[in-house]
Amino acid sequence: MDLISVNQVKCTKCGICIEVCPTRIMSMDEKGPILETPDLCIACGHCVAACPNEAIDNSKNPLSKQIELKETPVINADVAEQFLRSRRSIRCFKNKNVPLNQLLKLLDIARFAPTASNSQGLSFIIVNDRAVLEKATEITVQWMEGQLENPLHKSFPLHVRAVREKGINTILRDAPHLILATAPIDFKNGRENTIFSFAYLELFANILGLGSCWAGLLEMCAFSNHKPLIELFNIPDGKVLTGAVMVGFPKYNFKRLVERNSLEVLWLDCDEMENK
Ligand SMILES: Cc1cc2nc3c(=O)[nH]c(=O)nc-3n(C[C@H](O)[C@H](O)[C@H](O)COP(=O)(O)O)c2cc1C
Repeated sequence: MDLISVNQVKCTKCGICIEVCPTRIMSMDEKGPILETPDLCIACGHCVAACPNEAIDNSKNPLSKQIELKETPVINADVAEQFLRSRRSIRCFKNKNVPLNQLLKLLDIARFAPTASNSQGLSFIIVNDRAVLEKATEITVQWMEGQLENPLHKSFPLHVRAVREKGINTILRDAPHLILATAPIDFKNGRENTIFSFAYLELFANILGLGSCWAGLLEMCAFSNHKPLIELFNIPDGKVLTGAVMVGFPKYNFKRLVERNSLEVLWLDCDEMENK
């Protein structure tokens, strides 16, 4: 099957497919769009999704798998702002498991986040086993205990004391689930892609009535290639851990939106802007 096929009856030669293509792999001739550099197609599906007449298809992201958008969904700006600002890191979870289909739903949105050149490439591990989560905490704390003098990790003594002396788990917060992202070892965008996919996950969690929090301390331990942790999670051969996020039902709701540092912006074309 050809990468690109054009229905010449439906095609009006408007050129939208050519213009929206990130790698500009097509040009226009008298019959319509023609493919020039198929190898550069990143399978993003823009050409097909932007065509107003369903005139073009792309075997890497076929029309048959795309969902028609009658109109671009509009959320008013106030609602959008409240939604985005009300995403908070959740560190207190109910002692209750999240149904597995909800966890899958979360990840099924996470996979639509932007990725470098549409590379995607992530796969996920969902850890539900409390014993494994406790072991992961223990391994991370032991690793931190070996770093207590490291000036780069000033918060480590505090976390170690919380776990060891007070029995408070500030590593995985007693969350019932931990979601791990993994990517192939030689995949250079694994971490960036994970960051965006987790951003989607965290925002959507709010909508599903769930809470999440990045497990950055555990990530640090994993990124230092601490073998006991990597082995505990049974990371498949050829893959590395690229991120970790805790998930569960939030125990408390936030009643207020908080402030952040004030916005810092530098305008480079002030004169022009003033004239607009
Ligand atoms: C990469 C990354 C790692 C993080 N690691 C942790 C962590 O290990 N433990 C934790 O409690 N919060 C962690 N957080 C959450 C941040 O502390 C939190 O996003 C920040 O304080 C702002 O609060 P908010 O998310 O509630 O708006 C992490 C966040 C990011 C983006």
